[in-house]
Amino acid sequence: MKYTGPRIVTPPPGPKARTLIEEDIRMLSPSLTRSSPLVGEKAEGVFVEDVDGNVFLDFGSGIAVTALGHRHPEVIASMKAQMDKLIFINSLDYYTIPQVDYAKMLFEVTPGDFEKRVFYTNSGSEAVETAIKMAKWHNRKMYGIGFINGFHGRTLAALSFTTNSLTARRGFQPLYPIGQFTPYPHCYRCLFDKTYPSCDMHCLNYLTDVVFKKIVPPDETSFIMLEAVQGAGGYIVPPKEFFPRLSQICRQHNILLIVDEVQTGFGRTGKMFACDHFGLEPDIIALSKAIANGFPCGAAVSRSEVMDWVDAAHEGTLNGNPVIMEGAKTVLTVMQRDNLPAHAEKLGAYLKDHLAFLMEKYPIIGDVRGLGLMIGVEFIKDAKKTPAVDFRNQLIDLAFQKGLMLLGAGESSIRLAPPLIITKEQLDTGLSILEDCIKELS
Ligand SMILES: Cc1ncc(COP(=O)(O)O)c(C=O)c1O
Repeated sequence: MKYTGPRIVTPPPGPKARTLIEEDIRMLSPSLTRSSPLVGEKAEGVFVEDVDGNVFLDFGSGIAVTALGHRHPEVIASMKAQMDKLIFINSLDYYTIPQVDYAKMLFEVTPGDFEKRVFYTNSGSEAVETAIKMAKWHNRKMYGIGFINGFHGRTLAALSFTTNSLTARRGFQPLYPIGQFTPYPHCYRCLFDKTYPSCDMHCLNYLTDVVFKKIVPPDETSFIMLEAVQGAGGYIVPPKEFFPRLSQICRQHNILLIVDEVQTGFGRTGKMFACDHFGLEPDIIALSKAIANGFPCGAAVSRSEVMDWVDAAHEGTLNGNPVIMEGAKTVLTVMQRDNLPAHAEKLGAYLKDHLAFLMEKYPIIGDVRGLGLMIGVEFIKDAKKTPAVDFRNQLIDLAFQKGLMLLGAGESSIRLAPPLIITKEQLDTGLSILEDCIKELS
């Protein structure tokens, strides 16, 4: 299978896709978002083929998962080799070699030159749950502070800190009763209507002067948790002063800092972790998505002394599967060998420049932001920045019709997060479809 570009042979969804989708809708949970009517059958590199033979260029990587591209041959080979030896014995009763091997690799690349420990999980939400439980076990303090517009998953404790949309919370509240909130530094849409940098990071002043003085005492606060770059919330990058001051607040009050790098991790932002852009060394970091290029896997990595819980306090039957661990080892090896973070940084800069040029041309584009190959494009209706929600949704649909897979984020943004192996030519192909769609809909 060798794809050279997107190819639409029948308007999607074609007949086979429509049949499958009808059955799916009857049988699977109606809670799944389903951005486009794509029924994937095969994939390779940056391309996905549907059941009707249409080929799409993947600009979303399944939400920043397939960083090495679809079906990376070395990942497949290492997993097959492990399958021929041992597939499963359960990680809570026994030991396996790949878990320890991968831990050594992970500790080398995760932020902070201190002793670490890891707990493996099967998803991002589970990594976040693990981080929350670990912090609570360690310091036995009551509260956790999250940031408005954050996304941390949909299991109950993770959902308690998910505030990017009401849809996720409606019907499930009250949630785990420890989450308090403070605004994320979303400078394009500041909740305080202030302007950066004259705001003096008012969102952090709000934390220290309002939350800590009127709502939650800092000495009862176990942890502060946030994304290094908000993902589902719209690919929002904090200003450079934000993290040093936040870390200082955590240190001052002996509060653990949990950074959720489930979406930003593993080269996506142009460095191995988004924390590396800010010199940030969290006490606990939550990882998943790109970790095994599509296989269910996650990890919570902490300072050694923070993971001080006792046996049976937290475990999981399927965690740290040796086959998936071998895949994860290969992901990291390939990423470092092929300098994929640097490649993401270079192509990301190119992508951002091109989008900035489109922003000049099309007033419907209100903002272009992001790091590396994690770029958000926000659409607005007018000078008051009214979110162009319908436009964004139509854009995703039209791009799909033309063979480009796009994902939404925030209220009226798209997230551009192609596989990190994408070439400049492939990026240009996607950009040209994107511009055609913007032109057609504007
Ligand atoms: C930042 C962040 N944290 C946590 C999660 C939850 O991960 P999962 O869907 O694997 O449970 C996501 C998923 O999109 C995420 O983007």
